Amino acid sequence: MVMIQLNDENDKLMGRNVDGKLEELSILMVWHSIRPTGSVPWFDMVWFSQCIPRDAFLVWLLMGERLDLVERDRLMAAQMVDIEAQSSCEQASPPSSIFNNADRPVTLKFHEVVYTIKVKKQGWLIKKKNESFNKHILKGITGIVSPGELLAMLGPSGSGKTTLLTALGGRLGGQLDGSITYNDKPFSSIMKRYTGFVTQDDVLYPHLTVTETLVFTALLRLPRTLTSQEKVAHAEAVIKQLGLTRCKNIIIGGEDFLRGVSGGERKRVSIGQEMLINPSLLLLDEPTSGLDSTTAQRIVSTLWELARGGRTVVMTIHQPSSRLFYMFHKVLLLSEGNSLFFGKGSEVMNYFESIGFSPLVAMNPSDFLLDLANGISSDETSCLGQNAFKQKLALAYRCNLAENLKAEVLEVNDHVNAVLESKKPERWTTTWWQQVTVLLRRGVKERRHEFFSPLKISQVIAVSILSGLLWWQSDISHLQDQSGLLFFYTGFWGFYPLFQAIFTFPQERMMLDKERSSGMYRLSSYFVSRTLGDLPMELALPTLFCIITYWMAGLKAELGSFLYALFALLFSVLVSQGLGLALGALVMDQKSATMLGSVIMLSFTLAGGYYVQHVPSFISWIKYVSISQHTYKLLFGSQYKQGQTYQCGNRTCLVEEFPAIKSVGLDGQVISIVALAIMLVLYRVIAYLALMRVGMPM
Ligand SMILES: Nc1ncnc2c1ncn2[C@@H]1O[C@H](COP(=O)(O)OP(=O)(O)O)[C@@H](O)[C@H]1O
Ligand SMILES: [Mg+2]
Repeated sequence: MVMIQLNDENDKLMGRNVDGKLEELSILMVWHSIRPTGSVPWFDMVWFSQCIPRDAFLVWLLMGERLDLVERDRLMAAQMVDIEAQSSCEQASPPSSIFNNADRPVTLKFHEVVYTIKVKKQGWLIKKKNESFNKHILKGITGIVSPGELLAMLGPSGSGKTTLLTALGGRLGGQLDGSITYNDKPFSSIMKRYTGFVTQDDVLYPHLTVTETLVFTALLRLPRTLTSQEKVAHAEAVIKQLGLTRCKNIIIGGEDFLRGVSGGERKRVSIGQEMLINPSLLLLDEPTSGLDSTTAQRIVSTLWELARGGRTVVMTIHQPSSRLFYMFHKVLLLSEGNSLFFGKGSEVMNYFESIGFSPLVAMNPSDFLLDLANGISSDETSCLGQNAFKQKLALAYRCNLAENLKAEVLEVNDHVNAVLESKKPERWTTTWWQQVTVLLRRGVKERRHEFFSPLKISQVIAVSILSGLLWWQSDISHLQDQSGLLFFYTGFWGFYPLFQAIFTFPQERMMLDKERSSGMYRLSSYFVSRTLGDLPMELALPTLFCIITYWMAGLKAELGSFLYALFALLFSVLVSQGLGLALGALVMDQKSATMLGSVIMLSFTLAGGYYVQHVPSFISWIKYVSISQHTYKLLFGSQYKQGQTYQCGNRTCLVEEFPAIKSVGLDGQVISIVALAIMLVLYRVIAYLALMRVGMPM
């Protein structure tokens, strides 16, 4: 460890070398541009000592302020390479060409951004009407980030960092005032394609491996001009660049005690997904939270490296260590939606010192800034309360920094505009068919354990054998038994697919939201792939059930009848599945959707014609929309014909006179098929429409 010390008396810079000896360094020109504040006698330079050779550091110090920014950046880049080399030997390979430069540099400007929400006052039992008030989450935030810069938004929790970041990513709906521009243009679908957004929580499929996750993202997000092999190569380059080689074949995990990669690796996979598209603007919400400082360091180094390639990088960060702090080109300090500082990271301590606030003891600058943003003054003699103190800082910002900043933001730069305008990409990077096939493959990979779940298969086999034994070789003379079996078919295969399907979209919501809001694929391709992917298993189980029970129970032993019964069963499965999908997509909450689903399905079953035959007319309409009733009719149609008789006691009776069959009727088979077909389409259309709202700005 090398410790640099500033000698208070004669302003000498002391360095403790690797052997622990204290050496005097009589060069300190550069010092004041990086030291936290004049009153701090020393500060920890561990970061520098770890990442740059001692000689280079001395040269750097000697050059002092004569080093211009570019040169300093070059040196810092050298440091980064060194850190990476030290922290992981995987980094030895040269990074892929995609990381070199952004093809469309973006200057992000935000001017007086105000975000207001309406908060309703909750009354006891009854919601009080008209008692709502406006709450300002962001209160006029201004700033500018140029290509090549890394902006860190600091502030205590609840200060509005995520809200501002979401607004900058074009994902915040509602009452957003002020302007946010990208090369002086508003947010557009083109910009969406060049924006990478990493949310605070990693939304990844737990059963896919790191490689699979990144390859599927590459296949979906990279332009169609690249071949699949090139896309895979890009994904592999990202894996190398992010130091994920060691865990590339490990599953992501994280759900239901599923062991997978570590938190830091998961975060890097999320960043990798955004890096794949070579974003011009990269936004990250707390990418280092919950990680140890070395991992956090590696992540910020990667971001720094990305910014160096001409990208605009904005991140929120909760509590950066001091070594991370010095990597930020710009810093925005927020407190309760107010800006307390916006400017160069190297200037922040000087600014607060100039307005009379400096730390009394040596401390991490970010701790000091967070104290300020929380209203905690280092000046113990101050008699201001926390709120008044925060107001004072916000006012100081408005008086000292705001005007210059606004002038800078309002300056129009025509030159950059031309770059973005000149290359207009298409709305979607891949074709509809490509999207469907990739999503289908990904879905099958992610849910392969569900498809061939031995538990599900044994459940169905057990139920079918049990019912086969109970109805063993039942005869037409026991019409009551047969009609009971057929009704059991409709009931079991009404509920089962419904509850399978109800969970589909609520479970996928986060993923759909993330991928749709980054414009990854069309909703239609997702919808088709998702419903197609589930189909084989959805149909295999009822088929298995039907094969076992039909022949065991001795239903009509004709191939045509069997196929007709199977057709009716599968048809009803598809309709119930559609109803489940629609309910799930409408409600988007598993518990409520399940409750609603069971009530609806139960009413369909009760109205199915088996339990009650004398239904009052005011509610008899329910049978027309009942999936069970139509399926039941079709199943009857597969077994019995009009005019057919059976032995009832000593007499011969007409099948259609049997109460359950009489109420459902053997005629109108085609009408039931049409009704089910309408429901099949209708429920899916409803599900599709309900899904359209996912991934839209909130
Ligand atoms: N849609 C919303 N409804 C109610 N309050 C909200 C909403 N969005 C944000 N807030 C509030 O705004 C404040 C800032 O939130 P956020 O941007 O998430 O803060 P940070 O990311 O800095 O922790 C919080 O107090 C939060 O409760
Ligand atoms: Mg947040």
